[in-house]
Amino acid sequence: MRIEMVEELRARVRRATKVVAFTGAGVSRESGLATFREGKDALWQRYRPEDLASPQAFLRHPETVWRWYGERFRGAASAQPNAAHLALARLAAVFPSYLLVTQNVDGLHQRAGSRGVVELHGTLHDARCHACARRMEMQRALDRSPDTPPRCECGGLYRPAVVWFGEMLPQDAMERAMREAAACDLLLAVGTSATVFPAAGLIELAHRGGAAVIEVNPEATAFSSLADLRLRAAAAAALPALEAEIRGCREGSA
Ligand code: OAD
Repeated sequence: MRIEMVEELRARVRRATKVVAFTGAGVSRESGLATFREGKDALWQRYRPEDLASPQAFLRHPETVWRWYGERFRGAASAQPNAAHLALARLAAVFPSYLLVTQNVDGLHQRAGSRGVVELHGTLHDARCHACARRMEMQRALDRSPDTPPRCECGGLYRPAVVWFGEMLPQDAMERAMREAAACDLLLAVGTSATVFPAAGLIELAHRGGAAVIEVNPEATAFSSLADLRLRAAAAAALPALEAEIRGCREGSA
């Protein structure tokens, strides 16, 4: 795949000093992990979020929720980062300031080499006590108790350290993401439907703050109209090509 930007966008990419990459489930699609909404294997087509991804569900059916997240953890742990994760990690070296903000809980950005990733929805790789917030590695928690959530010293139950429906996003992560989005001059929105708060908000903040927005998504989204460039392709195909084009702009070549 080859990407060509119009000169006006090339100039903005050439001058960019603060960059935010914002990702969703689509970036891990080519690693074999399901997205939430679109597609026949999408998680929320097969399961109801309120049955599995809410504090109420956990308190009602802790074993069911624990086993489901155990499966998702094993899926994520055995998946490999794809060309999109790798290109997004390499882009950190291109700009003076680069922050990767993700809604994903699979840990694939970190395994691809990204550092300082802001995880808005937590991580599948840790368990945390629902009562006192003490943490334990998910692998250890599952080794100890694969079918039912282990009990914490405080008497509470361990749960996956992800954000569920009806829960607050981690405040420090959220504030950092909003601050950086508002101040950036280039935002890459990759593989997110941006239907869940604060996704659309971050893209809008960046756009209103004068940033160029590049969207990578095979489908149109509610914020496509804000994008200066829309790449209608799978992330694993588009990101290496986008990286090459960005590097070309930065070197002032072609
Ligand atoms: P969604 O499932 O809502 O959206 C995935 C997006 O990825 C869609 O817009 C697809 O068109 C796009 N997509 C599909 N295949 C792709 C590919 N190969 N390359 C690039 N894009 C592709 O997932 P998110 O936007 O991440 O929250 O959803 C946000 C949050 O909603 C999730 O973190 C989760 C969910 O409910 C919680 O669990 C709290």
